Amino acid sequence: MAELDSPLATLTPAPAARPRLVSVRRMPPTVAARLDRDFAGAFAVDRDIDREESLALLEEHKAEALLFSSGFKLDAGFIERLPARVKVAATCSVGFDHVDVAAAKSRGLVVTNTPDVLTGCTADLAFSLLLSAARRLPEADQMLRRDAWGPRAMGDFLGVRVWGQTIGIIGMGRIGRAVARRARGFDMRVLYHDAAQLPPALEEGGHFMADLDAMLGQCQFVSLHCPYTPATRHILNRRTLGLLPPGAVVVNAARGGLIEEEALIDGLKSGRIAAAGLDVFEGEPRFDRRFIDLPNVSLAPHIGSATVETRDAMGLRCLDNIAAVLSGRPAIDPLWS
Ligand code: DGY
Repeated sequence: MAELDSPLATLTPAPAARPRLVSVRRMPPTVAARLDRDFAGAFAVDRDIDREESLALLEEHKAEALLFSSGFKLDAGFIERLPARVKVAATCSVGFDHVDVAAAKSRGLVVTNTPDVLTGCTADLAFSLLLSAARRLPEADQMLRRDAWGPRAMGDFLGVRVWGQTIGIIGMGRIGRAVARRARGFDMRVLYHDAAQLPPALEEGGHFMADLDAMLGQCQFVSLHCPYTPATRHILNRRTLGLLPPGAVVVNAARGGLIEEEALIDGLKSGRIAAAGLDVFEGEPRFDRRFIDLPNVSLAPHIGSATVETRDAMGLRCLDNIAAVLSGRPAIDPLWS
């Protein structure tokens, strides 16, 4: 086993009936308590566990399950090295672009995610970024922190009006629809683009646009909520960003790779794009430091699902999935069936 820099909480030997797992992410207290009560194995406590350590711990604890999240790549090479007894891997996320689904399938590994429980919370964060970017809250906040509040002109801090404007939602899944509901509450006109039109009951008053280019041409706001796949990589790129009306606001609380960041930075610098609200970045946790120098960006470190209730629900849902599979029942949230 690899030597560890800092200790991990390892349970005292547990009854055989307790499911054994390795949890590579530090969990919130409610989830940690359930791990301690109902599971055995190794659980990250004061730092996350990396891939090499996780393999060693899975072996050492004879674990049958892995609890992980986005940022921890479950790629073909890793899946190949999983001990044979590992039956299920539960990701604490709804997105699963960090999972090689084909490799997991052919290995017979069950992989689960956490849909539904984070929908509202992630939509709240996307809408917060939209409002913050449109109304220039980062600049206003910084001015107060610098103690630079002096005489004011009526032309200071002029932002982009939100209510009554048009928003284009790319990806009208659960989170996209929740953003649409919030937008309707702000009297916005909602357009959406997806692979196909939704049944009317699910459209949330939005208007389907099969043609993404045509939609972008009408959007004062655009918000991304589609999965990150080879087909959606850089769906907002130099060309498509150029279709937005001047002064538009771009919001991304989905995955960083959906935007060609170089083109977004150019648009923000020139002012052609008025502002952006970004919770996700290509290559995170590293991100393009030029965003920091841009006053017209609201930045967050991938915190869409970060509320007490939601993170608890996500962690507990993963544990329910693992317990189900290890006791011979079907997974609650399998990535495929
Ligand atoms: C998700 O659930 O996919 C969030 O982005 C966290 O990774």
